[in-house]
Amino acid sequence: MRREGRSRSAREDELLAAARRLLPAGVRTTTGDPDDALVIAAAHGAWLRDASGREYVDYLLGSGPMLLGHAHPAVVAAVARQLARGGTYLLVSEPAIALAEEIVRAVPCAEQVAFHGSGSESTLYALRLARAFRKRDVVLKFEGGFHGMSDYALMSTQWTAHPAPYPEAVPNSAGIPRAIAGTVLVAPFNDAETACALIDRHHDALAAVIVEPLQRTIPPAPGFLQALRDTTARRGIPLVFDEVVTGFRLAWGGAQEYYGVVPDLCALGKSISGGHPLSVLCGRAEIMGLVDPARARTGEHVMQTGTYSGNPVSCAAALAVLEELRRPGTYERLFATGRRLMEGLREALAAAGVAAQVTGEPPCFEVWMTERPVTDFRATLAADRARHARFTRDLLAHGVVKAHEKFFVSLAHGEAEVALTLEAFRAAAAALAGESAAEGRHAGESPTEGRHAGESPTEGRHAGESPAEGRHVGGAPTAEVAAHRERAHGVPAAEIAPANERSAAALAGETAAKGGRARGAEAAEGGPAGSQAAAEDGPAAGQAAAESTRGNGRANGMSAAPAAARTRRRGNGTAAGPPEGER
Ligand SMILES: Cc1ncc(COP(=O)(O)O)c(C=O)c1O
Repeated sequence: MRREGRSRSAREDELLAAARRLLPAGVRTTTGDPDDALVIAAAHGAWLRDASGREYVDYLLGSGPMLLGHAHPAVVAAVARQLARGGTYLLVSEPAIALAEEIVRAVPCAEQVAFHGSGSESTLYALRLARAFRKRDVVLKFEGGFHGMSDYALMSTQWTAHPAPYPEAVPNSAGIPRAIAGTVLVAPFNDAETACALIDRHHDALAAVIVEPLQRTIPPAPGFLQALRDTTARRGIPLVFDEVVTGFRLAWGGAQEYYGVVPDLCALGKSISGGHPLSVLCGRAEIMGLVDPARARTGEHVMQTGTYSGNPVSCAAALAVLEELRRPGTYERLFATGRRLMEGLREALAAAGVAAQVTGEPPCFEVWMTERPVTDFRATLAADRARHARFTRDLLAHGVVKAHEKFFVSLAHGEAEVALTLEAFRAAAAALAGESAAEGRHAGESPTEGRHAGESPTEGRHAGESPAEGRHVGGAPTAEVAAHRERAHGVPAAEIAPANERSAAALAGETAAKGGRARGAEAAEGGPAGSQAAAEDGPAAGQAAAESTRGNGRANGMSAAPAAARTRRRGNGTAAGPPEGER
Protein backbone atom coordinates (compact mmCIF):
# COMPACT_ATOMS: atom_id res chain seq x y z
CA MET A 1 0.00 0.00 0.00
CA ARG A 2 2.65 2.49 1.00
CA ARG A 3 4.99 3.68 -1.66
CA GLU A 4 7.97 3.80 0.68
CA GLY A 5 10.21 0.79 0.57
CA ARG A 6 8.89 -0.37 -2.79
CA SER A 7 10.82 0.81 -5.74
CA ARG A 8 9.57 1.36 -9.24
CA SER A 9 9.73 -1.74 -11.42
CA ALA A 10 12.00 -1.94 -14.45
CA ARG A 11 8.87 -2.11 -16.60
CA GLU A 12 7.49 1.16 -15.22
CA ASP A 13 10.88 2.82 -15.69
CA GLU A 14 10.89 1.67 -19.32
CA LEU A 15 7.37 2.96 -19.88
CA LEU A 16 8.20 6.33 -18.34
CA ALA A 17 11.31 6.67 -20.49
CA ALA A 18 9.24 5.98 -23.60
CA ALA A 19 6.55 8.41 -22.48
CA ARG A 20 9.12 11.16 -21.90
CA ARG A 21 10.56 10.57 -25.35
CA LEU A 22 7.22 10.47 -27.17
CA LEU A 23 4.74 12.55 -25.20
CA PRO A 24 6.10 16.02 -24.48
CA ALA A 25 2.99 16.94 -22.48
CA GLY A 26 2.09 13.48 -21.38
CA VAL A 27 4.09 12.61 -18.27
CA ARG A 28 2.13 14.11 -15.43
CA THR A 29 2.77 14.11 -11.74
CA THR A 30 0.51 15.32 -9.00
CA THR A 31 3.37 16.82 -7.03
CA GLY A 32 5.31 18.73 -9.67
CA ASP A 33 8.34 16.49 -9.07
CA PRO A 34 9.33 14.33 -12.07
CA ASP A 35 10.47 11.63 -9.61
CA ASP A 36 6.83 11.16 -8.66
CA ALA A 37 5.67 10.25 -12.17
CA LEU A 38 3.44 7.19 -12.30
CA VAL A 39 2.19 5.01 -15.11
CA ILE A 40 -1.26 3.83 -14.17
CA ALA A 41 -2.01 0.22 -14.98
CA ALA A 42 -5.54 -0.05 -13.61
CA ALA A 43 -8.08 1.56 -11.33
CA HIS A 44 -11.01 0.11 -9.39
CA GLY A 45 -13.34 1.84 -6.97
CA ALA A 46 -11.35 4.43 -5.04
CA TRP A 47 -7.99 2.86 -5.87
CA LEU A 48 -5.29 3.41 -8.49
CA ARG A 49 -2.62 0.81 -9.27
CA ASP A 50 0.61 1.78 -10.99
CA ALA A 51 2.68 -0.27 -13.39
CA SER A 52 4.90 -1.39 -10.49
CA GLY A 53 1.89 -2.79 -8.64
CA ARG A 54 1.77 -0.03 -6.00
CA GLU A 55 -1.70 1.09 -4.95
CA TYR A 56 -3.05 4.48 -3.94
CA VAL A 57 -6.29 5.90 -2.61
CA ASP A 58 -7.34 8.18 -5.44
CA TYR A 59 -8.55 11.75 -4.87
CA LEU A 60 -7.55 12.82 -8.37
CA LEU A 61 -10.37 10.79 -9.93
CA GLY A 62 -9.14 11.47 -13.45
CA SER A 63 -9.48 15.22 -12.66
CA GLY A 64 -12.99 14.69 -11.37
CA PRO A 65 -15.05 12.45 -13.66
CA MET A 66 -14.93 9.28 -11.55
CA LEU A 67 -17.55 10.39 -9.04
CA LEU A 68 -18.86 6.82 -8.72
CA GLY A 69 -15.33 5.42 -8.48
CA HIS A 70 -13.38 3.62 -11.17
CA ALA A 71 -14.82 0.77 -13.23
CA HIS A 72 -18.24 1.00 -11.62
CA PRO A 73 -20.06 -2.20 -12.64
CA ALA A 74 -23.22 -0.40 -13.80
CA VAL A 75 -21.20 1.91 -16.05
CA VAL A 76 -19.03 -0.91 -17.38
CA ALA A 77 -22.16 -2.92 -18.23
CA ALA A 78 -23.91 0.03 -19.89
CA VAL A 79 -20.86 0.79 -22.02
CA ALA A 80 -20.43 -2.86 -23.01
CA ARG A 81 -24.12 -3.05 -24.01
CA GLN A 82 -23.86 0.07 -26.15
CA LEU A 83 -20.53 -0.91 -27.73
CA ALA A 84 -22.12 -4.09 -28.97
CA ARG A 85 -24.59 -1.86 -30.85
CA GLY A 86 -21.88 0.25 -32.45
CA GLY A 87 -19.50 2.91 -31.20
CA THR A 88 -20.72 6.09 -32.86
CA TYR A 89 -23.27 7.14 -35.49
CA LEU A 90 -23.18 10.96 -35.71
CA LEU A 91 -26.95 10.69 -36.17
CA VAL A 92 -28.97 11.07 -33.00
CA SER A 93 -29.47 7.97 -30.88
CA GLU A 94 -31.83 6.78 -28.17
CA PRO A 95 -29.24 7.17 -25.34
CA ALA A 96 -28.62 10.79 -26.41
CA ILE A 97 -32.35 11.62 -26.37
CA ALA A 98 -32.88 9.90 -23.02
CA LEU A 99 -29.90 11.74 -21.55
CA ALA A 100 -31.16 15.10 -22.83
CA GLU A 101 -34.47 14.37 -21.09
CA GLU A 102 -32.69 13.57 -17.83
CA ILE A 103 -30.65 16.76 -17.98
CA VAL A 104 -33.68 18.93 -18.70
CA ARG A 105 -35.39 17.37 -15.69
CA ALA A 106 -32.41 17.73 -13.36
CA VAL A 107 -30.75 21.05 -14.17
CA PRO A 108 -32.86 24.11 -13.34
CA CYS A 109 -31.73 26.29 -16.29
CA ALA A 110 -31.92 23.50 -18.88
CA GLU A 111 -34.70 23.86 -21.42
CA GLN A 112 -32.63 22.46 -24.29
CA VAL A 113 -29.38 20.54 -24.51
CA ALA A 114 -26.40 20.19 -26.89
CA PHE A 115 -23.75 17.49 -26.50
CA HIS A 116 -20.02 17.91 -27.04
CA GLY A 117 -16.86 15.98 -26.27
CA SER A 118 -15.12 18.04 -23.59
CA GLY A 119 -15.72 20.82 -21.10
CA SER A 120 -13.54 23.13 -23.19
CA GLU A 121 -15.87 22.68 -26.15
CA SER A 122 -19.02 23.35 -24.16
CA THR A 123 -17.71 26.58 -22.62
CA LEU A 124 -16.36 27.71 -26.00
CA TYR A 125 -19.77 27.09 -27.58
CA ALA A 126 -21.56 28.76 -24.67
CA LEU A 127 -19.59 31.93 -25.35
CA ARG A 128 -20.13 31.71 -29.12
CA LEU A 129 -23.84 31.23 -28.57
CA ALA A 130 -24.00 34.17 -26.19
CA ARG A 131 -22.13 36.37 -28.66
CA ALA A 132 -24.58 35.45 -31.41
CA PHE A 133 -27.55 36.03 -29.13
CA ARG A 134 -26.35 39.37 -27.79
CA LYS A 135 -24.58 40.47 -30.96
CA ARG A 136 -21.65 41.62 -28.87
CA ASP A 137 -18.10 40.25 -28.61
CA VAL A 138 -16.80 40.86 -25.12
CA VAL A 139 -16.95 38.30 -22.32
CA LEU A 140 -16.42 38.94 -18.63
CA LYS A 141 -14.81 36.18 -16.57
CA PHE A 142 -13.40 35.99 -13.07
CA GLU A 143 -9.76 36.03 -12.09
CA GLY A 144 -8.57 32.56 -11.19
CA GLY A 145 -11.55 30.89 -12.87
CA PHE A 146 -10.90 28.09 -15.34
CA HIS A 147 -13.10 27.33 -18.33
CA GLY A 148 -10.94 25.04 -20.43
CA MET A 149 -8.45 25.42 -23.21
CA SER A 150 -10.01 27.74 -25.78
CA ASP A 151 -8.17 30.96 -26.54
CA TYR A 152 -10.97 32.91 -24.86
CA ALA A 153 -11.00 30.79 -21.72
CA LEU A 154 -7.28 30.68 -21.13
CA MET A 155 -7.14 34.17 -19.65
CA SER A 156 -6.32 35.13 -16.05
CA THR A 157 -6.91 31.59 -14.83
CA GLN A 158 -5.56 29.99 -11.67
CA TRP A 159 -2.15 29.84 -13.36
CA THR A 160 -1.65 33.61 -13.44
CA ALA A 161 1.51 34.48 -11.57
CA HIS A 162 1.22 38.20 -12.24
CA PRO A 163 -2.37 39.42 -12.38
CA ALA A 164 -3.07 42.66 -14.24
CA PRO A 165 -5.23 45.49 -12.88
CA TYR A 166 -8.95 44.73 -13.38
CA PRO A 167 -10.43 44.32 -15.94
CA GLU A 168 -7.34 43.54 -18.02
CA ALA A 169 -6.97 39.88 -19.07
CA VAL A 170 -3.67 38.01 -18.91
CA PRO A 171 -3.27 35.16 -21.47
CA ASN A 172 -2.07 31.93 -19.83
CA SER A 173 -0.46 30.39 -22.89
CA ALA A 174 1.85 31.25 -25.71
CA GLY A 175 0.14 31.05 -29.07
CA ILE A 176 -3.06 32.92 -28.21
CA PRO A 177 -3.66 35.78 -30.66
CA ARG A 178 -3.08 39.08 -28.89
CA ALA A 179 -6.42 40.44 -30.09
CA ILE A 180 -8.30 37.82 -28.05
CA ALA A 181 -7.26 39.39 -24.74
CA GLY A 182 -9.05 42.54 -25.90
CA THR A 183 -12.34 40.62 -25.95
CA VAL A 184 -12.10 39.37 -22.36
CA LEU A 185 -12.66 41.42 -19.21
CA VAL A 186 -11.61 40.09 -15.81
CA ALA A 187 -13.27 40.79 -12.48
CA PRO A 188 -12.45 39.68 -8.93
CA PHE A 189 -14.37 36.63 -7.68
CA ASN A 190 -16.42 37.22 -4.54
CA ASP A 191 -16.28 41.00 -4.90
CA ALA A 192 -19.83 41.69 -6.04
CA GLU A 193 -19.44 45.44 -5.89
CA THR A 194 -16.44 45.57 -8.24
CA ALA A 195 -17.78 42.83 -10.54
CA CYS A 196 -21.21 44.41 -10.91
CA ALA A 197 -19.70 47.87 -11.42
CA LEU A 198 -17.60 46.41 -14.26
CA ILE A 199 -20.66 44.76 -15.78
CA ASP A 200 -22.57 48.03 -15.55
CA ARG A 201 -19.70 50.03 -17.01
CA HIS A 202 -19.16 47.66 -19.95
CA HIS A 203 -22.65 46.26 -20.39
CA ASP A 204 -23.08 47.53 -23.90
CA ALA A 205 -20.02 45.57 -25.06
CA LEU A 206 -20.74 42.40 -23.13
CA ALA A 207 -21.97 39.18 -24.74
CA ALA A 208 -21.82 37.10 -21.55
CA VAL A 209 -20.62 36.80 -18.00
CA ILE A 210 -19.12 33.38 -17.29
CA VAL A 211 -18.35 32.09 -13.81
CA GLU A 212 -17.53 28.87 -12.00
CA PRO A 213 -20.13 29.06 -9.22
CA LEU A 214 -17.65 27.27 -6.95
CA GLN A 215 -14.49 28.86 -8.33
CA ARG A 216 -12.00 26.02 -8.24
CA THR A 217 -12.42 25.32 -4.52
CA ILE A 218 -13.43 28.82 -3.42
CA PRO A 219 -17.11 28.94 -2.48
CA PRO A 220 -19.14 31.98 -3.49
CA ALA A 221 -19.65 34.52 -0.71
CA PRO A 222 -23.29 34.83 0.33
CA GLY A 223 -25.11 36.97 -2.23
CA PHE A 224 -22.27 37.02 -4.78
CA LEU A 225 -23.89 34.78 -7.41
CA GLN A 226 -27.26 36.44 -6.87
CA ALA A 227 -25.69 39.87 -7.44
CA LEU A 228 -24.27 38.61 -10.76
CA ARG A 229 -27.67 37.19 -11.62
CA ASP A 230 -29.47 40.43 -10.82
CA THR A 231 -27.03 42.66 -12.67
CA THR A 232 -26.81 40.52 -15.81
CA ALA A 233 -30.58 40.09 -15.88
CA ARG A 234 -31.08 43.85 -15.56
CA ARG A 235 -28.68 44.41 -18.46
CA GLY A 236 -29.97 41.57 -20.66
CA ILE A 237 -26.61 39.81 -20.62
CA PRO A 238 -26.62 35.97 -20.55
CA LEU A 239 -25.09 34.57 -17.38
CA VAL A 240 -23.16 31.35 -18.00
CA PHE A 241 -22.39 28.95 -15.18
CA ASP A 242 -19.43 26.69 -15.88
CA GLU A 243 -20.59 23.59 -14.02
CA VAL A 244 -18.06 21.25 -15.60
CA VAL A 245 -16.88 20.42 -12.08
CA THR A 246 -19.98 21.16 -10.00
CA GLY A 247 -22.69 19.67 -12.24
CA PHE A 248 -24.28 16.59 -10.62
CA ARG A 249 -21.52 16.82 -7.98
CA LEU A 250 -22.67 19.48 -5.52
CA ALA A 251 -26.27 18.36 -5.95
CA TRP A 252 -28.47 16.55 -8.47
CA GLY A 253 -29.23 19.94 -10.05
CA GLY A 254 -25.59 21.10 -9.71
CA ALA A 255 -24.35 24.35 -8.21
CA GLN A 256 -27.41 26.21 -9.46
CA GLU A 257 -29.55 24.04 -7.24
CA TYR A 258 -27.01 23.97 -4.41
CA TYR A 259 -26.48 27.73 -4.27
CA GLY A 260 -30.00 28.57 -5.44
CA VAL A 261 -29.13 30.83 -8.39
CA VAL A 262 -30.21 29.91 -11.94
CA PRO A 263 -28.10 31.03 -14.94
CA ASP A 264 -29.16 31.36 -18.60
CA LEU A 265 -26.65 28.84 -19.95
CA CYS A 266 -24.65 26.12 -18.29
CA ALA A 267 -21.78 23.82 -19.25
CA LEU A 268 -21.60 20.36 -17.68
CA GLY A 269 -18.94 17.68 -18.00
CA LYS A 270 -16.70 15.43 -15.94
CA SER A 271 -18.93 13.77 -13.35
CA ILE A 272 -21.81 13.26 -15.75
CA SER A 273 -20.36 10.39 -17.79
CA GLY A 274 -18.13 8.29 -15.54
CA GLY A 275 -14.92 8.89 -17.47
CA HIS A 276 -16.32 8.84 -20.99
CA PRO A 277 -15.80 11.88 -23.21
CA LEU A 278 -18.97 13.92 -22.98
CA SER A 279 -19.92 17.46 -22.12
CA VAL A 280 -23.15 19.36 -22.24
CA LEU A 281 -24.25 22.86 -23.02
CA CYS A 282 -27.76 23.54 -21.83
CA GLY A 283 -29.96 26.50 -21.06
CA ARG A 284 -32.79 28.70 -22.18
CA ALA A 285 -34.42 27.51 -25.38
CA GLU A 286 -34.44 30.97 -26.94
CA ILE A 287 -30.64 31.04 -26.80
CA MET A 288 -30.00 27.34 -27.38
CA GLY A 289 -32.25 27.44 -30.46
CA LEU A 290 -29.57 29.36 -32.37
CA VAL A 291 -27.70 26.08 -32.89
CA ASP A 292 -30.59 24.70 -34.94
CA PRO A 293 -29.25 24.22 -38.52
CA ALA A 294 -32.62 25.37 -39.82
CA ARG A 295 -31.46 28.86 -38.82
CA ALA A 296 -28.71 28.73 -41.44
CA ARG A 297 -30.95 30.52 -43.93
CA THR A 298 -31.45 33.40 -41.51
CA GLY A 299 -27.72 33.98 -41.04
CA GLU A 300 -28.13 33.50 -37.28
CA HIS A 301 -27.08 29.89 -37.07
CA VAL A 302 -24.39 29.14 -34.48
CA MET A 303 -22.10 26.32 -35.61
CA GLN A 304 -21.29 23.79 -32.94
CA THR A 305 -20.86 20.16 -33.71
CA GLY A 306 -18.22 17.47 -33.65
CA THR A 307 -17.70 13.87 -34.71
CA TYR A 308 -18.32 12.65 -31.18
CA SER A 309 -21.05 15.09 -30.13
CA GLY A 310 -23.76 12.96 -28.56
CA ASN A 311 -21.65 9.82 -28.86
CA PRO A 312 -23.97 6.95 -27.85
CA VAL A 313 -21.38 5.13 -25.74
CA SER A 314 -20.72 8.23 -23.63
CA CYS A 315 -24.46 8.92 -23.40
CA ALA A 316 -25.14 5.33 -22.28
CA ALA A 317 -22.41 5.69 -19.65
CA ALA A 318 -23.94 8.96 -18.48
CA LEU A 319 -27.40 7.41 -18.15
CA ALA A 320 -25.89 4.67 -15.96
CA VAL A 321 -24.08 7.30 -13.84
CA LEU A 322 -27.26 9.33 -13.34
CA GLU A 323 -29.18 6.19 -12.43
CA GLU A 324 -26.69 5.63 -9.60
CA LEU A 325 -26.55 9.27 -8.51
CA ARG A 326 -30.28 9.57 -8.07
CA ARG A 327 -30.47 6.73 -5.58
CA PRO A 328 -31.80 8.04 -2.27
CA GLY A 329 -29.06 9.14 0.11
CA THR A 330 -26.34 9.39 -2.53
CA TYR A 331 -25.48 13.03 -1.99
CA GLU A 332 -25.78 12.73 1.79
CA ARG A 333 -23.21 9.93 1.66
CA LEU A 334 -20.88 11.86 -0.62
CA PHE A 335 -21.08 14.93 1.59
CA ALA A 336 -20.61 12.93 4.81
CA THR A 337 -17.39 11.41 3.41
CA GLY A 338 -16.15 14.77 2.18
CA ARG A 339 -16.94 16.45 5.49
CA ARG A 340 -15.00 13.82 7.45
CA LEU A 341 -12.02 14.32 5.17
CA MET A 342 -12.15 18.11 5.33
CA GLU A 343 -12.50 18.07 9.08
CA GLY A 344 -9.79 15.42 9.48
CA LEU A 345 -7.45 17.47 7.30
CA ARG A 346 -8.14 20.60 9.27
CA GLU A 347 -7.65 18.78 12.57
CA ALA A 348 -4.39 17.15 11.44
CA LEU A 349 -2.96 20.51 10.40
CA ALA A 350 -4.17 22.22 13.56
CA ALA A 351 -2.73 19.49 15.80
CA ALA A 352 0.62 19.83 14.06
CA GLY A 353 0.51 23.62 14.32
CA VAL A 354 0.61 24.14 10.57
CA ALA A 355 -0.92 27.40 9.34
CA ALA A 356 -3.35 26.39 6.61
CA GLN A 357 -6.79 26.94 5.16
CA VAL A 358 -9.12 24.23 3.90
CA THR A 359 -11.55 25.61 1.31
CA GLY A 360 -14.26 24.13 -0.89
CA GLU A 361 -17.32 21.98 -0.50
CA PRO A 362 -17.24 18.39 0.74
CA PRO A 363 -17.17 16.76 -2.75
CA CYS A 364 -14.13 18.81 -3.77
CA PHE A 365 -11.85 20.83 -1.57
CA GLU A 366 -8.29 22.03 -1.20
CA VAL A 367 -5.68 22.91 1.39
CA TRP A 368 -3.74 26.18 1.17
CA MET A 369 -0.58 26.67 3.20
CA THR A 370 -1.31 30.16 4.41
CA GLU A 371 -2.72 31.74 7.53
CA ARG A 372 -4.72 34.22 5.43
CA PRO A 373 -8.35 33.48 4.55
CA VAL A 374 -8.71 32.27 0.95
CA THR A 375 -11.80 33.82 -0.57
CA ASP A 376 -10.48 34.91 -3.96
CA PHE A 377 -7.72 34.18 -6.42
CA ARG A 378 -5.25 36.77 -5.16
CA ALA A 379 -5.39 35.24 -1.68
CA THR A 380 -4.20 31.94 -3.18
CA LEU A 381 -1.03 33.68 -4.34
CA ALA A 382 -0.07 34.16 -0.69
CA ALA A 383 -0.07 30.40 -0.08
CA ASP A 384 3.26 28.63 0.22
CA ARG A 385 3.43 26.40 -2.85
CA ALA A 386 6.62 24.64 -1.83
CA ARG A 387 5.03 23.53 1.45
CA HIS A 388 1.94 22.43 -0.45
CA ALA A 389 4.10 20.35 -2.79
CA ARG A 390 5.88 18.77 0.20
CA PHE A 391 2.53 17.90 1.76
CA THR A 392 1.29 16.39 -1.52
CA ARG A 393 4.49 14.32 -1.84
CA ASP A 394 4.14 13.06 1.73
CA LEU A 395 0.57 12.02 1.06
CA LEU A 396 1.75 10.16 -2.02
CA ALA A 397 4.39 8.41 0.09
CA HIS A 398 1.56 7.29 2.36
CA GLY A 399 -0.46 5.95 -0.55
CA VAL A 400 -2.78 8.91 -1.15
CA VAL A 401 -2.99 10.63 -4.55
CA LYS A 402 -4.54 14.08 -4.57
CA ALA A 403 -5.08 16.31 -7.55
CA HIS A 404 -2.55 19.08 -7.90
CA GLU A 405 -5.03 21.69 -6.83
CA LYS A 406 -7.83 19.81 -5.12
CA PHE A 407 -9.17 16.64 -3.54
CA PHE A 408 -12.06 15.07 -5.46
CA VAL A 409 -14.17 12.76 -3.27
CA SER A 410 -16.03 9.80 -4.79
CA LEU A 411 -18.88 7.57 -3.72
CA ALA A 412 -16.38 4.70 -3.67
CA HIS A 413 -14.40 6.21 -0.80
CA GLY A 414 -15.49 4.14 2.19
CA GLU A 415 -14.42 3.60 5.79
CA ALA A 416 -11.10 1.93 4.97
CA GLU A 417 -10.06 4.60 2.50
CA VAL A 418 -11.07 7.43 4.81
CA ALA A 419 -9.19 5.90 7.75
CA LEU A 420 -6.04 5.46 5.66
CA THR A 421 -6.35 9.02 4.37
CA LEU A 422 -6.79 10.54 7.83
CA GLU A 423 -3.68 8.71 8.98
CA ALA A 424 -1.81 10.05 5.96
CA PHE A 425 -3.05 13.59 6.76
CA ARG A 426 -1.67 13.30 10.30
CA ALA A 427 1.69 11.95 9.13
CA ALA A 428 2.09 14.55 6.36
CA ALA A 429 1.07 17.41 8.68
CA ALA A 430 3.51 16.22 11.35
CA ALA A 431 6.29 16.03 8.75
CA LEU A 432 5.51 19.56 7.63
CA ALA A 433 5.54 20.78 11.23
CA GLY A 434 8.88 19.02 11.75
CA GLU A 435 10.31 20.82 8.74
CA SER A 436 8.94 24.15 9.97
CA ALA A 437 10.45 23.56 13.40
CA ALA A 438 13.80 22.72 11.86
CA GLU A 439 13.65 25.77 9.60
CA GLY A 440 12.54 27.94 12.52
CA ARG A 441 15.36 26.72 14.72
CA HIS A 442 17.75 27.26 11.87
CA ALA A 443 16.60 30.84 11.44
CA GLY A 444 16.44 31.40 15.18
CA GLU A 445 12.65 31.65 15.09
CA SER A 446 9.91 29.76 16.80
CA PRO A 447 7.87 27.34 14.70
CA THR A 448 4.39 28.24 13.48
CA GLU A 449 3.13 27.53 16.93
CA GLY A 450 -0.39 28.52 17.71
CA ARG A 451 -1.38 29.43 14.14
CA HIS A 452 -3.67 26.52 13.71
CA ALA A 453 -5.78 25.83 10.68
CA GLY A 454 -8.76 25.77 12.98
CA GLU A 455 -8.25 29.34 14.07
CA SER A 456 -8.45 31.14 10.76
CA PRO A 457 -11.26 33.68 10.51
CA THR A 458 -12.72 31.85 7.52
CA GLU A 459 -12.52 28.55 9.28
CA GLY A 460 -15.86 26.89 9.45
CA ARG A 461 -17.21 28.79 6.49
CA HIS A 462 -15.88 26.20 4.15
CA ALA A 463 -17.07 22.93 5.51
CA GLY A 464 -19.98 22.69 7.88
CA GLU A 465 -21.14 26.26 7.61
CA SER A 466 -21.00 27.15 3.96
CA PRO A 467 -24.00 29.30 3.11
CA ALA A 468 -25.52 26.50 1.10
CA GLU A 469 -24.45 23.67 3.33
CA GLY A 470 -27.29 21.52 4.45
CA ARG A 471 -29.86 23.37 2.36
CA HIS A 472 -29.78 21.66 -0.99
CA VAL A 473 -27.79 18.48 -0.62
CA GLY A 474 -30.17 15.89 -1.85
CA GLY A 475 -32.86 17.72 0.05
CA ALA A 476 -35.58 20.14 -0.90
CA PRO A 477 -34.53 22.73 -3.46
CA THR A 478 -34.66 26.43 -2.61
CA ALA A 479 -37.94 28.17 -3.27
CA GLU A 480 -36.26 29.92 -6.21
CA VAL A 481 -35.12 26.70 -7.83
CA ALA A 482 -38.43 24.98 -7.12
CA ALA A 483 -40.27 27.89 -8.68
CA HIS A 484 -38.02 27.78 -11.72
CA ARG A 485 -38.65 24.09 -12.18
CA GLU A 486 -42.34 24.60 -11.72
CA ARG A 487 -42.39 27.28 -14.40
CA ALA A 488 -40.22 25.28 -16.73
CA HIS A 489 -42.16 22.05 -16.35
CA GLY A 490 -45.55 23.64 -16.13
CA VAL A 491 -46.43 21.41 -13.18
CA PRO A 492 -46.15 21.94 -9.42
CA ALA A 493 -42.59 21.34 -8.19
CA ALA A 494 -43.83 18.74 -5.73
CA GLU A 495 -44.93 16.60 -8.66
CA ILE A 496 -41.52 16.63 -10.32
CA ALA A 497 -40.05 13.30 -9.33
CA PRO A 498 -36.97 11.53 -10.67
CA ALA A 499 -37.37 9.93 -14.07
CA ASN A 500 -37.31 6.39 -12.78
CA GLU A 501 -40.49 7.03 -10.87
CA ARG A 502 -42.43 8.05 -13.95
CA SER A 503 -43.59 6.51 -17.14
CA ALA A 504 -41.80 7.22 -20.38
CA ALA A 505 -45.00 8.69 -21.79
CA ALA A 506 -45.35 11.16 -18.92
CA LEU A 507 -41.72 12.13 -19.40
CA ALA A 508 -42.11 12.76 -23.11
CA GLY A 509 -45.20 14.87 -22.51
CA GLU A 510 -43.48 16.92 -19.85
CA THR A 511 -40.43 17.63 -21.98
CA ALA A 512 -42.63 18.71 -24.87
CA ALA A 513 -44.56 21.03 -22.57
CA LYS A 514 -41.33 22.63 -21.35
CA GLY A 515 -40.12 23.23 -24.93
CA GLY A 516 -43.49 24.57 -25.98
CA ARG A 517 -43.59 27.01 -23.10
CA ALA A 518 -40.15 28.29 -23.88
CA ARG A 519 -40.99 28.93 -27.50
CA GLY A 520 -44.25 30.63 -26.58
CA ALA A 521 -42.49 32.88 -24.11
CA GLU A 522 -39.95 33.85 -26.73
CA ALA A 523 -42.64 34.91 -29.17
CA ALA A 524 -44.41 36.92 -26.51
CA GLU A 525 -41.39 39.04 -25.64
CA GLY A 526 -40.01 41.96 -27.54
CA GLY A 527 -37.60 44.88 -27.69
CA PRO A 528 -33.97 44.89 -28.60
CA ALA A 529 -31.47 43.51 -26.12
CA GLY A 530 -29.99 46.19 -23.96
CA SER A 531 -31.81 49.10 -25.58
CA GLN A 532 -31.84 50.95 -22.29
CA ALA A 533 -28.24 49.93 -21.84
CA ALA A 534 -27.28 51.34 -25.22
CA ALA A 535 -28.11 54.83 -24.03
CA GLU A 536 -25.80 54.53 -21.05
CA ASP A 537 -22.09 54.12 -20.37
CA GLY A 538 -19.44 53.60 -23.03
CA PRO A 539 -18.00 50.23 -23.97
CA ALA A 540 -14.76 48.68 -22.79
CA ALA A 541 -12.66 49.38 -25.83
CA GLY A 542 -12.78 50.76 -29.33
CA GLN A 543 -13.25 47.32 -30.82
CA ALA A 544 -16.04 46.62 -28.38
CA ALA A 545 -17.65 49.94 -29.25
CA ALA A 546 -17.62 49.10 -32.93
CA GLU A 547 -19.06 45.68 -32.28
CA SER A 548 -21.70 47.06 -30.01
CA THR A 549 -22.78 49.54 -32.67
CA ARG A 550 -22.95 46.79 -35.26
CA GLY A 551 -24.88 44.69 -32.83
CA ASN A 552 -27.48 47.33 -32.17
CA GLY A 553 -27.84 47.87 -35.88
CA ARG A 554 -28.58 44.19 -36.33
CA ALA A 555 -30.92 43.81 -33.40
CA ASN A 556 -33.81 41.64 -34.41
CA GLY A 557 -36.35 39.20 -33.12
CA MET A 558 -33.79 36.75 -31.74
CA SER A 559 -32.17 39.27 -29.47
CA ALA A 560 -35.58 40.46 -28.40
CA ALA A 561 -35.86 38.33 -25.30
CA PRO A 562 -33.19 39.60 -22.97
CA ALA A 563 -32.69 38.01 -19.61
CA ALA A 564 -34.04 41.14 -17.96
CA ALA A 565 -37.38 40.73 -19.72
CA ARG A 566 -37.49 37.10 -18.66
CA THR A 567 -36.70 38.14 -15.13
CA ARG A 568 -39.63 40.47 -15.08
CA ARG A 569 -41.87 37.90 -16.63
CA ARG A 570 -40.82 35.34 -14.09
CA GLY A 571 -41.13 37.80 -11.29
CA ASN A 572 -37.83 37.05 -9.59
CA GLY A 573 -34.10 37.44 -10.00
CA THR A 574 -33.32 34.01 -11.31
CA ALA A 575 -34.63 34.16 -14.82
CA ALA A 576 -33.30 34.41 -16.86
CA GLY A 577 0.42 26.55 -17.69
CA PRO A 578 -1.11 24.04 -15.50
CA PRO A 579 2.02 22.78 -13.76
CA GLU A 580 1.13 19.21 -14.51
CA GLY A 581 -1.84 19.51 -16.80
CA GLU A 582 -4.26 18.41 -14.12
CA ARG A 583 -7.22 20.65 -13.51
C1 LIG B 1 -14.56 24.41 -14.47
C2 LIG B 1 -13.97 23.76 -15.69
N1 LIG B 1 -14.41 24.15 -16.89
C3 LIG B 1 -13.96 23.59 -18.02
C4 LIG B 1 -13.02 22.60 -17.99
C5 LIG B 1 -12.51 21.99 -19.26
O1 LIG B 1 -12.98 20.68 -19.37
P1 LIG B 1 -12.20 19.61 -20.29
O2 LIG B 1 -10.90 19.32 -19.61
O3 LIG B 1 -13.13 18.45 -20.35
O4 LIG B 1 -12.01 20.26 -21.62
C6 LIG B 1 -12.52 22.16 -16.75
C7 LIG B 1 -11.50 21.10 -16.68
O5 LIG B 1 -10.87 20.89 -15.70
C8 LIG B 1 -13.01 22.76 -15.57
O6 LIG B 1 -12.54 22.41 -14.36
